[in-house]
Amino acid sequence: MNVLVQSGGIEAGDADAVVVNLFEGVTEPGGATGALDRSLDGAIRDLVASGDARGKLNETVVFHPRGAIPAPRVIVVGLGSPAEFSLDGARQAAAAAAREARRAGARSVASVVHGGGVGGLALADAAGAVVEGTILGLYRYQAPGTLPREDFDREVDTLTLVEFDAAKLPEIERGARVGQAIAEGTCLARDLANQPANLLTPTALAEVAQRIADDHRMGCQVLGREQMAELKMEALLSVARGASQPPRFIVLEHNPASDDTVPPVVLVGKGITFDSGGISIKPASGMEEMRSDMAGAAAVLATMQTVGAMGLPRRVVAIVPATENMPGSDASHPGDVVTAMNGVSIEIINTDAEGRLILADALAYAHRYDPAAVVDVATLTGGMVMALGYRMTGVFANDDGLWEAVRDAGDAAGEPMWRMPLDPVYNAQIRSPFADLRNTGGRPGSAVTAACFLSRFVGDHAWAHLDIAGTNWWEADITYTKKPYYVRGNTGVGVGTLTGVLRSWDADRAA
Ligand code: BES
Ligand code: MN
Ligand code: ZN
Repeated sequence: MNVLVQSGGIEAGDADAVVVNLFEGVTEPGGATGALDRSLDGAIRDLVASGDARGKLNETVVFHPRGAIPAPRVIVVGLGSPAEFSLDGARQAAAAAAREARRAGARSVASVVHGGGVGGLALADAAGAVVEGTILGLYRYQAPGTLPREDFDREVDTLTLVEFDAAKLPEIERGARVGQAIAEGTCLARDLANQPANLLTPTALAEVAQRIADDHRMGCQVLGREQMAELKMEALLSVARGASQPPRFIVLEHNPASDDTVPPVVLVGKGITFDSGGISIKPASGMEEMRSDMAGAAAVLATMQTVGAMGLPRRVVAIVPATENMPGSDASHPGDVVTAMNGVSIEIINTDAEGRLILADALAYAHRYDPAAVVDVATLTGGMVMALGYRMTGVFANDDGLWEAVRDAGDAAGEPMWRMPLDPVYNAQIRSPFADLRNTGGRPGSAVTAACFLSRFVGDHAWAHLDIAGTNWWEADITYTKKPYYVRGNTGVGVGTLTGVLRSWDADRAA
């Protein structure tokens, strides 16, 4: 998507569609909508008076100005009630308008910055949200090796943000650039997590990381089985041994000042490219969704692409343990005891609780960076889906400041976060008579005991664990999470939040 920023009146532009907005309850539109309305001799006021346009959030009304302005069509998008308006409202409205423009056959769209005026949002943030909504709303998964789809014949290729006041352009430009980097990262995460396991293997995931490193001058290290064994990553290897696809341990580093003494923020992503459950095999029904059990890895790698595209001035390291979880003849047996690289031994009660095993070694590996903070993202537990459903991501954090940073970044990104308890009392459920820990704590509070398990591999630094099992996937029948920038499949959740945390998190605050 070409994203341009221009000053002038929206009524003067010649895009295939111009987009203005309308708050609920407004009868005399002001700002850019008012200016356009005057050029159209009151056409928008008429739409309001007749009830055709009510300003409901994401409502779109399209009409042809028939030569009154250079553009061939106008889209009026609703922003809802001013009291309930938020950054995500701007994002959603932009997505709704972009889809309407595409449906109508427009290739170029000129839009005002929703919420940048009377909406009361910071202008750069609002511009970013409009760009994000546009790109994410137009996202479609192009499956490799499929026939061309007849319904994919229309594409919007250019978005121009139009602002009357030229003095505001630098702010809009700055926000638009950030929004584009986040949206393109989120689309990458969606593509990766939507891809089937026969195409997106651990090796393929490592190639994506290498490509990001090459594009943005980052360091990239990919370890194979032998190197994992040298590092004593027995927990990760215990999962990989049932699969014939070779595992990969991926480390990607953005170090803009080339200074290895700066404590980085370390991102860790669960990279199970397929979770069959292993010997504790899952039921057949719905197992195909376990191709996206690497959505955490996708979010973390895509965030690195975003960081690179933004030229973020801070050190960031991404760690992705990647493997399939398969029931091959050499697979781990229930009852096996393995020792993670930090020396903690684990009794494997259920081979389907594999995410915490691979994250154990990844979190332990992170110690070598003396991190300012560690944030892991994982489709970790079915229990998280039971607890919070599909709307909110559960967050476990050992540091209030880091939790607040995650919460605020999530709110701004349209990825709502909910804090879950990380209380040592739950450790009682993962005690084992045969090892330091067991890898399951039974069904009660299973998202909590999984987080407690992870905490045993975390060093003395701020840490947050995001369980995205419920939020990484979206189906049209889950109506309460319906947003005009979601399509069936992976949501790309995490990229917006992680990018926000990286932009806001102050290393000095870390323990
Ligand atoms: N990848 C799954 C968790 C999951 C479930 C993600 C549904 C997305 C949707 C994870 O590896 C898993 O199998 N967890 C088990 C652990 C149990 C066996 C202790 C779970 O939560 O049911
Ligand atoms: Mn599993
Ligand atoms: Zn899993």
